[in-house]
Formats: sequence, C-alpha cells, structure tokens
Amino acid sequence: MTQRDQYKGAYFTPSGGLVWHWRALWRRRHWMDFIDAVAAELQQWHPPQKKLLLLGPSAGWCLPTDFLIRFNEINAVDLDPLAERIFRFNHGRALNRAGTKLTFELENIFTSFDALLDRFPDHAILFPNMLGQHIYHIDDTDQARIEIESVKTKLATRHWASIHDRLSGKIQSGAALPTPFTTREALTAQILAEQLKLSGEWIDHQTTHVLPDGVERRLVGWRLLDTWMHVVEIAQVAPR
Ligand SMILES: C[S@@+](CC[C@H](N)C(=O)[O-])C[C@H]1O[C@@H](n2cnc3c(N)ncnc32)[C@H](O)[C@@H]1O
Repeated sequence: MTQRDQYKGAYFTPSGGLVWHWRALWRRRHWMDFIDAVAAELQQWHPPQKKLLLLGPSAGWCLPTDFLIRFNEINAVDLDPLAERIFRFNHGRALNRAGTKLTFELENIFTSFDALLDRFPDHAILFPNMLGQHIYHIDDTDQARIEIESVKTKLATRHWASIHDRLSGKIQSGAALPTPFTTREALTAQILAEQLKLSGEWIDHQTTHVLPDGVERRLVGWRLLDTWMHVVEIAQVAPR
C-alpha cells in the first residue's frame, strides 16, 4: 500500500489531531445518541481474543470504557502524537483498575498494516472510525477506495469490527437525524442517500465495500456539528 506519511506525528491532520480533540471537548455532550449507538454495537461484539489491536482510536472520545476493559491488552496505533496522552486521560484509570495493559504507537496504519497484523496475530481488531477518513489522506480517490477495500482480504482469518463513515454533508440546524437501520446490503452511496432522503451534496467516504458481502451492518446518523452530519456504518466480522 502506498501513502504519504506527511501526517505522522502532525498536530493538525484532516482526520484527527487538535481540531478533533477540540471538537470532541466542546461537542461531545451533543453526541450521546451516536456514542450510545456505538456502545450498543460493541456490546454485541464478542471476539474470542482477550487482546485488541485498536487502529486509529484518537483519544477514544466516542469509545465506551466498559468495552475497552473487557480486554487484557490493548495495542493502539494512531498518527496523532496527542492521542495517547488524552486517551489515557479519558480511559486510563479504568484500564489500570481492570488490569488492562495499554500501549500506543505513532504509525501510519495503511503503510504498516501487514507488519501490524504479523506483530499482533492473537488480537481482535477494531477500526474505531478511521477507515472512512482515508479519503482525506490520499489525493487519488480510486486509490483510497482500493486500499480501504483491501482490508477485508487481509483480515479474512481475523475477528474484526469497524465503525466507519459512509457519507457526510450539510444538514439544517435542528433537523431530525435519519432513523438508524440494519441491513446486509452494501448500499451504494447514492442509494443510501436516497434511502435516507438526504438532499444536497454528500461526500462519499469510499467505504461501500469495506465489509465482506452479506455482513450485517448498522447505519446511524451522527451530528458532528450543528449543521454537519455523518452517516456511520458499524459492523463486526468473523473469519469465514
Ligand atoms: C475520527 S478520529 C477517531 C475518533 C475516535 N473513534 C474517538 O472516539 O475519538 C480518526 C483517527 O484516525 C487516525 N488515523 C487516520 N488515518 C490514519 C492512518 N492512516 N494511520 C494511523 N492513524 C490514522 C487519526 O489520527 C485520528 O486520530
């Protein structure tokens, strides 16, 4: 896989960094429906492994501590040099109490993916909202899509789960979010937007086919900003 590493260790990136932490600090209290939806899905994920490879967790603003403490060991990887310190602030005490060992490393997941899988063969894997961000890190959208879709092949023998953006775009302040729904279909961006009755321009995060065919997925709206919504897909995958 190819990708520039210009964002490794950077404080400002299109997918995280200071802007994300700032937003989370100020808006997290408005995200509770989304955070609850993530927690409900993760509560139903029971991989047999007691170790977790956490790929792109930032500071875990939207991740439930109760889920994290189910593991004996968590190995996290992110580009963001601030992620570890704030993640420990958010979850560290509970992890310590539960005896969950946490390590963090500063790495580009897409350039080191194969090596990470080799280094952590006994881990379940969670992408907590990073795969859909890849379109912001690489200029060529087709290349981004190919790299995103390649993940499922590389993970064919692993237990993994992903929370990823499907669409994002402008909504009116105060407008109701679409009702969450579950499907086994890989709805194209256009069909998904039609089904959710979204009008206007929507960014396609190129994650239509990130999951293996037929896997059940939950689609939920997330009001990131007062007038900006993400349609997020959440799914768990077992080896086939
Ligand atoms: C939207 S944030 C995740 C938010 C997280 N779920 C939370 O609860 O705070 C996306 C994270 O993925 C990381 N990321 C994106 N692309 C990455 C890559 N190629 N390698 C490593 N980390 C990456 C970003 O640095 C950022 O911290």
